[in-house]
Amino acid sequence: MNGQSNDRFLKACRREPVDCTPVWFMRQAGRYMTEYRKIREQYDILTVCKTPELSAEVTMQPVQRLDIDAAIIFADILLPLEPMGLNLEFSAGEGPVIHNPVRDSIGVSALNEVDGDSLRYVGDAIRLAQRRLQEQPCPIPLIGFAGAPFTLASYAIEGGASRNYIYTKGMMYGDPTAWHALMGKLSHVVTEYLRSQIHAGAQVVQLFDSWVGCLNPDDYREYVLPHVQQIISSLRNETVPIIHFGTGTATLLELMKEAGGDVIGVDWRTHIDDAWQCLGPDVAVQGNLDPVTLFAPIPEIRRRVSDIMRRVAKRPGHIFNLGHGILPQTPVEHVQAVAKMVHELSANPS
Ligand code: CP3
Repeated sequence: MNGQSNDRFLKACRREPVDCTPVWFMRQAGRYMTEYRKIREQYDILTVCKTPELSAEVTMQPVQRLDIDAAIIFADILLPLEPMGLNLEFSAGEGPVIHNPVRDSIGVSALNEVDGDSLRYVGDAIRLAQRRLQEQPCPIPLIGFAGAPFTLASYAIEGGASRNYIYTKGMMYGDPTAWHALMGKLSHVVTEYLRSQIHAGAQVVQLFDSWVGCLNPDDYREYVLPHVQQIISSLRNETVPIIHFGTGTATLLELMKEAGGDVIGVDWRTHIDDAWQCLGPDVAVQGNLDPVTLFAPIPEIRRRVSDIMRRVAKRPGHIFNLGHGILPQTPVEHVQAVAKMVHELSANPS
């Protein structure tokens, strides 16, 4: 163990005062980095996820390149679907494909309700990554994560990415019993998976409900909220902060807060001060630069980062991030510049 750790991210999650605003980036390990592409030339994504040495190595790549205040374990939200009985493949260009999607109550009944141990390789990767982080001069915390049940259900039912969620909403509206049974199974698996990540050394966990913004508030309340609430309340005794993230959620923020989370993730479609106004001051907020801003010239990036800082106006509990993940063609130097800008623009005289 080295001297001082960098704990501004953990402090911000708890809305405690910080020396400057913490920053990390969703998808901070990925194809925009040459060193990641190099690993991917040799190994497919599932192999990287399932080999703790590779996962830990990729987790560390952005830590070595960017001035960030948190690392996130390299894995994928879809991994738990495999031991549940779904045949998952990442095909080049097409993204994730599930060859045997769940379409009805029989399919839901056939799913295995696995425990956290079924993804032991993720726990092993967390232990390894923690060891590597602790060797750094000023160690930063490690984030674990899982998909939220709605977003996982959308992949399990559609069989891949979707535009209109026709099968997903079809089950929700046409067979609510099957829907709630599926959400219940996913919630159980996600809870135990996150618990095992925390026990392996994840200091914060993020629940990714990336596609939940396709629902209206009534459907969110009826078909999603109770399940997310169940996951978050089950993890309360683990005492690690929970980040609850979604996109397209401007009309769902209050309900997401009701579902739970110490930090609510907000995308760029909402001004961060409006989002915070709606959430109230008793929760931390993560966000919310449009990832496409990173393709703009540096002065324009700076203008937009400054605008977020101005809107936040030093409220305690801001974690700077993008509103969604870094895109593959993003210039690395622009990501580096944003991390630096956030620290400079928010530095408090001590
Ligand atoms: O650095 C990090 O943020 C950690 C790694 C991470 C990955 N996936 C690795 C990955 C995280 C946090 C995820 C979460 C994830 N995976 C989400 C939620 C976040 C979001 O972006 O909304 C979702 C919806 C998935 C499902 C998924 N996995 C998709 C849609 C794809 C294809 C995307 C693409 O651009 O091709 C993946 C594959 C995947 N998982 C990649 C990475 C870095 C793509 C790069 C590759 O193929 O090497």
